[in-house]
Amino acid sequence: MNSLLDLSAHAQRRQHLLASLEDAAVVLPAAQLVTHHADVHHRFRQNSDFFYLCGLDEANAVAVLRGHGWGSPADPRFILFVEPRDATAEVWNGQRWGVEGALEHFGADAAHPLGELPERLEAYLRGAPRIGFRIGHHPHVEPLVLRIWGQQLEQRQRYGGQGASLFDVSPAIHTMRLRKEPAELERMREAARISCAAHEQARQATQVGMGEYQIEALLESHFRSAGARQPAYPSIVAGGDNACILHYTNNSDRLGDGDLLLIDAGCSLMDYYNADITRTFPINGRFRGEQRALYELVLSAQRHAIGAVQPGSSSAEVHNAAVQVLVDGLLELGLLRGDGEAIMANHDYRHLYPHRTGHWLGLDVHDVGTSRLGDHHTALEPGMVLTVEPGLYISNRLPVPEGQPEIPNHWKGIGIRIEDDVAVTATGHEVLTAAALKDLQAMET
Ligand code: GLY
Ligand code: MN
Ligand code: MN
Repeated sequence: MNSLLDLSAHAQRRQHLLASLEDAAVVLPAAQLVTHHADVHHRFRQNSDFFYLCGLDEANAVAVLRGHGWGSPADPRFILFVEPRDATAEVWNGQRWGVEGALEHFGADAAHPLGELPERLEAYLRGAPRIGFRIGHHPHVEPLVLRIWGQQLEQRQRYGGQGASLFDVSPAIHTMRLRKEPAELERMREAARISCAAHEQARQATQVGMGEYQIEALLESHFRSAGARQPAYPSIVAGGDNACILHYTNNSDRLGDGDLLLIDAGCSLMDYYNADITRTFPINGRFRGEQRALYELVLSAQRHAIGAVQPGSSSAEVHNAAVQVLVDGLLELGLLRGDGEAIMANHDYRHLYPHRTGHWLGLDVHDVGTSRLGDHHTALEPGMVLTVEPGLYISNRLPVPEGQPEIPNHWKGIGIRIEDDVAVTATGHEVLTAAALKDLQAMET
């Protein structure tokens, strides 16, 4: 039930957020349970912003954070509304922290049963110059916030004085989440360690004729045995041509002799830090010619792209480094034709490489934080973590751009991606997932 990070880390984050939002009151709802079917729910997954700031892993709670720039010094600054202790509910669904736990364990200055939110929230927001809330994500709390805000605006019209402005608080939180603290990086190393070991075991167990689902079971059994909460995302175990479907998750086919197997899988820890790893290798232990050529090309693209991960660079530079290598190699192999610069500028490689080279990684797998504001790309800084995941997918699903060659059949059905999780350091980068082997020789048995 505990947060694994010291709860003081969450308190420091709240302080930091409020220091930047002095004159604001922030309303931050936890996640709710999501229906799986009928009256069965999916396993609970906390909202990452809420977890980051509060450390509480319960559904339905609502946090109110009040900046020091308004109100009187004795006012509570961190208020939690939580499901109260309830013996019957706890017999069915497990222990709750309750109001007492919110105060004693999670450091709330004030705490109330969730049922009192409608009557109490107005008082906590009254007088705040600004109300921070994310519209469109919390259907149970949003009507309440909007009603209170509307009432305040009406009172301003009638009696004068300040009415609050409403703003989206998430950019301020996401800017913080983009730069991982040392303790967060430690948790990401742990997610990476477990996930790398799962990939290594899966590759060693792979045999012609097995079901993709059996490899999925091996991976996920390792995650749970190692103490992880669950897969960070639906595991992709894609033999042969299935690997050309980027989000293939059926994992229902048999592994064919002569095919490659692409595995994209990573675990999520109890405190939600994630790994996201892809490896591709020959099912029968030997690459054939076309597979080998493309594997070496993707690996080279990935190494160049990882080389571009350093302070001051950007995810665009990382992407361009990968695309440059891929395009040059595809020209040499005859799978592209013409001028490399023009192919890059016109994106005439996208029938073979249709996705970006990476994304931020953290409490969310596709983590928050801007990578670009207009034409300005976010400069990489120590503490940022991104995936580097170039690939090639040779199939006839996407139309070949005008002027580019049709793909000969002997290339088709090859899908390759190699994905690592990379932290930016003061001097360059750290590959968190280096323990999952990827050298060509290591992929052959
Ligand atoms: N596994 C999802 C991704 O690689 O982005
Ligand atoms: Mn990824
Ligand atoms: Mn992935």
